[in-house]
Amino acid sequence: MNIEPTKTSTQLKNDLLLQALRKQKVERPPVWMMRQAGRYLPDYIKLREKYDFFTRVQTPELACEITLQPVDQVGVDAAIIFSDILVIPQAMGLEVLMEEGRGPLLPKTIKTKKDIDALNTSNAEEHLKYVMDALSLTKKELNGRVPLIGFSGAPWTILCYMVEGKGSKTWDKAKQFAYTGPELAHALLQKITNITIDYLKAQVKAGADTVQVFDSWAGSLSPEDFKIFAQPYLIQIADAMKNDAPVILFPKGSWYALKDLSETSASGIGIDWSITPQFARELTKNKITLQGNFDPAKLLAPIPQIKKWVKEMIDGFGVQNYIANLGHGITPNVPVEHAKAFVEAVKEYSR
Ligand code: CP3
Repeated sequence: MNIEPTKTSTQLKNDLLLQALRKQKVERPPVWMMRQAGRYLPDYIKLREKYDFFTRVQTPELACEITLQPVDQVGVDAAIIFSDILVIPQAMGLEVLMEEGRGPLLPKTIKTKKDIDALNTSNAEEHLKYVMDALSLTKKELNGRVPLIGFSGAPWTILCYMVEGKGSKTWDKAKQFAYTGPELAHALLQKITNITIDYLKAQVKAGADTVQVFDSWAGSLSPEDFKIFAQPYLIQIADAMKNDAPVILFPKGSWYALKDLSETSASGIGIDWSITPQFARELTKNKITLQGNFDPAKLLAPIPQIKKWVKEMIDGFGVQNYIANLGHGITPNVPVEHAKAFVEAVKEYSR
């Protein structure tokens, strides 16, 4: 995909992320961390003690403050708006609770055609106005320091939560739903896709410079089933967004889809640590920018070791068409100094 620099992106002081997504030549790779605004940051924990999760998400001033914390304190090259992928089920009419320390809970799950028919797919921008307000405010507060990333969950991952009602290691209820009633599953996936496209477009209008689609549970599917239940919807989203902003797809655990996804309208693919940088490049033939793939558990190792691993990772991907990141979200037990060392190691990289 070839997205021309927009007026806003040319005003950015640090444009590395967008340059990498446009496959322009960079001096060093940009770096950010999935789930960079969160529980490993003491200032986030202070806010968490005062306001519950959805208050933090739904109050633009709080969401903005949390989004800026890792930019100010860890030195990342991009901000990702503080929100959650589960705001989409909420906008579709389902109740979502966040149980502190235990994760999301959807009291009423999707089981029947009637449940699917009752789901809303319109007016994403209105239902999620607080996200748009948080994006506009954050864009203003960033004042061009770094690009702002918007995001959504991928249709398969959102289906997982809607059917299962909570997190799972195996997602067997979601898979049973898909394998025993594929027509229903496709009807649900299409509804999620439609509202997600509107939602992502609205995010770009509100100030997001690029968007990432998190398919966190793609790896629960076999390669054949990924092609049926995940890939077509990721492609629909990438195609629909191609004139709006660069899209990063993150199908966690689905390295087998790299070749197919490198031939879509997406600008970047996020990968986890289940594949080497070299093999990921071989599968994608340098057709697309790759992002990843540091195992977040390695951030618990001593700092000199983290720096050595980061160098090896960049050696493996190469400096161009690459975004340094983790292979999944940063965990709450990572010391801030170690997160900083990860970012510094990328900034210091030289061959
Ligand atoms: O990256 C960022 O800094 C932006 C914030 C962000 C959150 N959720 C905030 C959050 C992002 C990008 C997400 C995406 C998200 N949410 C995903 C995809 C990314 C991934 O990790 O795979 C998923 C699967 C969810 C659903 C979700 N939200 C779960 C499973 C949980 C509980 C477990 C956990 O990781 O904490 C949440 C809660 C949540 N979303 C928290 C945060 C900071 C923790 C709750 C808290 O701090 O009180």
